[in-house]
Amino acid sequence: MRMLFEKKTLLGLDIGSQSIKMVDIEKVRGGYELKALGLGLIPAECIVDKDIMDSETVVDTVKNLKENLKIKARGTASAISGHSVIVKKAELPIMNESELQETLMIEAEQYIPFDINDVYLDSFVLGESLERSDMMDVLFVAAKKELVDDYASAVRNAGLKPMLMDIDVFALETMYEVNYPDAPESIVALVDAGASMININILKDGMSIFARDISMGGRQLTERIQREFGVSYERAENIKTGSDIEGIDLERINYIFKMAAETYVQEIRRTLDFFLSTMVNENIERIYMSGGSSRIPGLIPLLRKQMDIPVEMINAFNNIHWDDKVFDPEYMAYIAPQMAVAVGLALRRADLKW
Ligand SMILES: Nc1ncnc2c1ncn2[C@@H]1O[C@H](COP(=O)(O)OP(=O)(O)OP(=O)(O)O)[C@@H](O)[C@H]1O
Ligand SMILES: [Mg+2]
Repeated sequence: MRMLFEKKTLLGLDIGSQSIKMVDIEKVRGGYELKALGLGLIPAECIVDKDIMDSETVVDTVKNLKENLKIKARGTASAISGHSVIVKKAELPIMNESELQETLMIEAEQYIPFDINDVYLDSFVLGESLERSDMMDVLFVAAKKELVDDYASAVRNAGLKPMLMDIDVFALETMYEVNYPDAPESIVALVDAGASMININILKDGMSIFARDISMGGRQLTERIQREFGVSYERAENIKTGSDIEGIDLERINYIFKMAAETYVQEIRRTLDFFLSTMVNENIERIYMSGGSSRIPGLIPLLRKQMDIPVEMINAFNNIHWDDKVFDPEYMAYIAPQMAVAVGLALRRADLKW
């Protein structure tokens, strides 16, 4: 009988523009158990602006991860984000699911700035509108077919079964729900700073009320270091992470980090302030940072100081059990924020479809 319940979650595969993350989590009695985790780097030109330019390298990297982690052909959840994905909230008269599906195509045209024939559409009912009891809040999601199909093909060509295509910000939300079920805050902001994007999702009582992707990422900082020290992209990446700083002027690199932290904080603040300007008497109570670029030295303290609220690195394994004989605790502490999206994907249930 156990077989029936075993593989209920999907394999989480986060195809990022700098690193591909694979996470396997199993649902066990009373919670979740981490089974496997891996990260593979891809060269900078493979994914540009979230578009897959070199699918062969992406596929090979996924295949390698799959082999190293001994993962069989599995139902897989992956995610997209960026300029080809639109998430919009709308207010509609209360209707049932099938009525909503009919209305979707017509209504969506108003809200989605792409040709409706070029996109996949989805919608979620968030609940009754706060202002009017005969209306409901609906979330529209539109994603360019070409982008979704490219990501799904990469998953398939690597020998996995694409079962679900999520959006980075929603995966973050899933990750947060599972890891922080007893958080006392009403409004929190989840901010994932990656190599080419910053994905922001603001939750109120566990529900997304605002989401935005900003085209800004760690790649720009790596390029800055590259120019500043006249080194290769790879070397610049190692200087940035501190793994190879031989002969590097620490004062200069620290100055670059300081400037980068300031730019990030400015960008994140701009978005959070915009959100706050649309709310009455509401405050963001805590910010959780994730993604590799959240490690930029000084970024979190500066954001904390400027927003004057608690800001912390998220622990994507806060409520997920892992065996410290299998996974190195030091590596886990380091990698947890970068695994946030992949963990959220790995927690998706197999019966959900896109
Ligand atoms: N210690 C560090 N200090 C500063 N930046 C770092 C550090 N470690 C990693 N990064 C940066 O984090 C980025 C990678 O993070 P992540 O894996 O979250 O991005 P990604 O998911 O591949 O990108 P995206 O989601 O934007 O497509 C790179 O730009 C990398 O240089
Ligand atoms: Mg990412």
